Amino acid sequence: MTENPAPQKAALAALYQNLGGEPGLRKILSDFYQRMGQDVMLGFFFQGKDLESIARNQGNFLMRAMGAAPSYSGQPPAQAHRSMAPILPGHFDRRLRILEDTLRAHGVAEADIRTWVGFEEAFRSAVQR
Ligand code: HEM
Repeated sequence: MTENPAPQKAALAALYQNLGGEPGLRKILSDFYQRMGQDVMLGFFFQGKDLESIARNQGNFLMRAMGAAPSYSGQPPAQAHRSMAPILPGHFDRRLRILEDTLRAHGVAEADIRTWVGFEEAFRSAVQR
């Protein structure tokens, strides 16, 4: 599968604005991680883990990417997933599907959904095994 080019910084910044900034972003991530935690394909990755804390770290990571925070001090994606079961292509695809469903449920515009999904897709080779 060909990977999309990483979306432009401007598109990510616009996405952040359209979400309503940090409160909007955090609300969506909280829902997204709840959905992944309950998912039949992905739930086991999150077993025994603090979903809210993972959502918070992901939010910090995204805020840096969206130009809303000067830095991100957590683990980079390539490192964060090394000590868990291998993330296979089907897992990665499933995550993107759940992300799309979550964003639609929160009324995010299709163009912004493409931007967010495109951003995640750019990390496929860093995270997937
Ligand atoms: C199916 C795909 C994925 C699964 C199953 C998954 C699962 C997880 C889990 C379980 C953790 C918690 C690790 C721990 O606390 O021990 C985590 C952390 C994290 N993930 Fe993912 N992840 C996936 C894809 C991604 C992608 C695509 C990105 C980036 C765009 C990402 C970014 C992060 C970040 C930034 C953290 C937090 C690191 C920290 O705590 O400092 N993940 N992920």
